[in-house]
Amino acid sequence: MKRTPKTPFLALLILSLAWLAACSCNDREDRLAKIRGTHGESVLAATGADVIQESAGARLFREKTCNTCHGDDGIHPLLPDYPILARQGRDYALRQMKDIQSGNRASGYAPQMQAVIKDVTEDEFIILADFIANELGGGAPIGGQPDPESPGAKLFKTKTCTACHGKDGKTPILPDYPRIAGLPREYILRQMRDIKSGARANSMAVLGMQGVMHLVDDEQMTQLADYVSSLPK
Ligand code: HEC
Ligand code: HEC
Repeated sequence: MKRTPKTPFLALLILSLAWLAACSCNDREDRLAKIRGTHGESVLAATGADVIQESAGARLFREKTCNTCHGDDGIHPLLPDYPILARQGRDYALRQMKDIQSGNRASGYAPQMQAVIKDVTEDEFIILADFIANELGGGAPIGGQPDPESPGAKLFKTKTCTACHGKDGKTPILPDYPRIAGLPREYILRQMRDIKSGARANSMAVLGMQGVMHLVDDEQMTQLADYVSSLPK
């Protein structure tokens, strides 16, 4: 049989999978590092194949079809009221993915995502959350030029949004609170409405925000969405 260049690659992959299965290490970080190594750069580099090197997170993001809705760069989603994922906080992203998978967060289009991510494992979610926070979108700009004199800018302070989300919308008080700066205007508006109405009630944290939403009416939510979407992330 003619040896194809694929044979050493397959042998290496089978060997490393067997090694992984035999490995008795229980430490979580260790195990994750090994998954990264198996799927990620090291194996690709070892083949010497002419392939674009990518991280385990980047590969999972495509394999699990996340990119079809959220865009290859995580900045240009399929629809204008889908979220921008790039540079979202790791712990927040992780919690949302698990809440969407469990059906805890089922407002808006979350059920459509749930249908696709049924088989994603906890370890894979961690890799994806790291990827979203640290790699996705590279350094590409998100958001625009906020107008500090706009009605939304004033509401953002007076309606206490800054207390939880930070003055700039990207320094939340807790790591599992969202970075909202630069999210799409239509997505922001929909989330505010869903949180206010109680349609999105996936955590104790979200109930905290619901508690202040009586302070803003529909027109003010529109002004807030204009402002927050213009904040650079
Ligand atoms: C079928 C389209 C679709 C697919 C596929 C999809 N998502 Fe989503 N995702 C959405 C939508 C839409 C939302 C917002 C839900 C809503 O309407 O409130 C969302 C929300 C999220 C959020 C929370 C964002 C925030 O700001 O709260 C994260 C994180 C996320 N997706 C990650 C992923 C990852 C990772 C994958 C792949 C494993 C994935 N998604 C696959 C459509 C999708
Ligand atoms: C008491 C803290 C708190 C306050 C005050 C607050 N928020 Fe939030 N907000 C949160 C938390 C926590 C979440 C994420 C909810 C979850 O856990 O899923 C959130 C979610 C959001 C989201 C959706 C983010 C996403 O990626 O899906 C938007 C938009 C938002 N807040 C805007 C605002 C605005 C505008 C105000 C002021 C009117 C405000 N928030 C006030 C805590 C707060």
